Amino acid sequence: MQEQFLQQVRNRRTFAIISHPDAGKTTLTEKLLLYGGAIRLAGSVKSRRAQKHAVSDWMEIEKQRGISVTSSVLQFDYNGYCINILDTPGHQDFSEDTYRTLVAADSAVMVIDCAKGVEAQTKKLFQVCKMRGIPIFTFINKLDRAGKDPFELMEEIENVLGIRSYPMNWPIGTDGDFKGVYNRSKSQIEVFSEGKHGQTIVESVIGDVNDDVFQDLLGTNKHQQLMEEIELLDVAGDNFDLNKVLKGELTPVFFGSAMTNFGVRPFLEAFLEMTTPPTPRNSQYGEVDPESDNFTGFVFKIQANMNPAHRDRIAFIRICSGKFQKGMAVNHVRINKSIKLAQPQQFLAQDRVVVEEAYPGDIIGVHDPGIFNIGDTLCQDNSKIQYEGIPVFAPEHFAKVYAKDSMKRKQFLKGIEQLSEEGAIQVFKRPHVGVEELIVGVVGVLQFEVLQYRLEREYGVEIKMQTLSYKFIRWIEQEGFDFDRFSLTMDSLIVEDKEEKPVVLFENEWSIQKVEERNQGAVLKSILKKD
Ligand code: G4P
Repeated sequence: MQEQFLQQVRNRRTFAIISHPDAGKTTLTEKLLLYGGAIRLAGSVKSRRAQKHAVSDWMEIEKQRGISVTSSVLQFDYNGYCINILDTPGHQDFSEDTYRTLVAADSAVMVIDCAKGVEAQTKKLFQVCKMRGIPIFTFINKLDRAGKDPFELMEEIENVLGIRSYPMNWPIGTDGDFKGVYNRSKSQIEVFSEGKHGQTIVESVIGDVNDDVFQDLLGTNKHQQLMEEIELLDVAGDNFDLNKVLKGELTPVFFGSAMTNFGVRPFLEAFLEMTTPPTPRNSQYGEVDPESDNFTGFVFKIQANMNPAHRDRIAFIRICSGKFQKGMAVNHVRINKSIKLAQPQQFLAQDRVVVEEAYPGDIIGVHDPGIFNIGDTLCQDNSKIQYEGIPVFAPEHFAKVYAKDSMKRKQFLKGIEQLSEEGAIQVFKRPHVGVEELIVGVVGVLQFEVLQYRLEREYGVEIKMQTLSYKFIRWIEQEGFDFDRFSLTMDSLIVEDKEEKPVVLFENEWSIQKVEERNQGAVLKSILKKD
């Protein structure tokens, strides 16, 4: 029994895929499902990317119903591993949830478009992974098209993101004639056959790099060029150090094309071998071993459900230790109450199923009758373990929000309060002004629409919004901080957050620097860590 439990834990691999929109995150996810046998034909399901169009109507409905756009978890098996991919919402539905999802992951796969390099959204998501010190694996995508030189891309990763990189494989053919990859640890070459537009698993020939067959397959020039590049890599590059990878100090880099499937399997197999099973998480008593018997988990996301009349919500729980069993009673540590986890659900490829049992690394969704907050811990025994809180991430869009009808002020404040508890918005007040003037901050602009819609539907309050020009936020940490003595620039505004911590909103980065200079001893933080 215990053996079986340990095996389940050790086989789990829970990761998120991060990228800038259009780099190929959806395509790669689909191809991982294809290789994992969770779908048979890429493109027949036409994946979630195709759904993006077909489902764009559904997303519209979802939005109309006031749901922050679904981010799900996909689970499938591959080579004895049980894989959980956490989908991080991107594009216009980019929100704080995107960041929070990363807190539930044990590692991250960063997809980069070979023609575009490191882009803005990747940078932001990378910072969150870096802060957590989780392993980050890089998949440089779209090699079937002409892109930047691979050496240049490696340099860009190091310079822009500040992480050392180590190419695990090397592309053969980089200007639109991508043929295969060279596996550095095995000194093997893998040349892919033209597939059926990436619909099915692609065939390949694998063998020693010096084998004549590759000279023929690649042509002498390409083969020669590859040998030179390999030599250069071996001489100039860093050594591979798995410990550094696991600490998030070195990113293993893979080249491939998610669309044609070239390089997908080599990536998946090497990644699974290197990445970590569920890692211990920090609590007030120190780290909790995932293999301990006591079931523990924390809420990292709350999603409003389909039925606005009931204000139904689903709380997403990352299991950190012990075994979850349907119907089990657990302690809700913050409110100090024993509760039953009702209607636990898990998300397998496209389906939602009722979950009978789940293990560390898994994500389950449970019905939330309004008792959960982001960051709440649940545990089976009476240990009262409380996991480290989920940080508050910097919103990038701000607006003043008022109730159109002042008679509805009470409902308005209640709605705002509830949505902020759910983590859909952040609310700020001006010191000395208070709730008379509320400023709402969001990570993605779509959240404003969701706010407007939900306040109207669920609380019967129409609102007016006045968009503000601030784009940056910094939490201030300063000994003996005093609102009235803090020195600002013309284009910045001081406010306080939900917990009455001082915060400054800025229009540009220049002002941040100025304010930092003017207030000696003040530390300005873009992410607020919680204990
Ligand atoms: P995202 O989730 O990161 O936003 O990206 P997504 O996978 O949706 O891919 C964005 C676009 O890039 C899609 O094209 C997709 O087909 C294409 N793409 C993904 N991987 C590769 C690759 O390896 N090579 C090439 N050449 N293109 C790739 P689209 O035209 O927007 O969509 P569709 O018409 O193909 O569905």
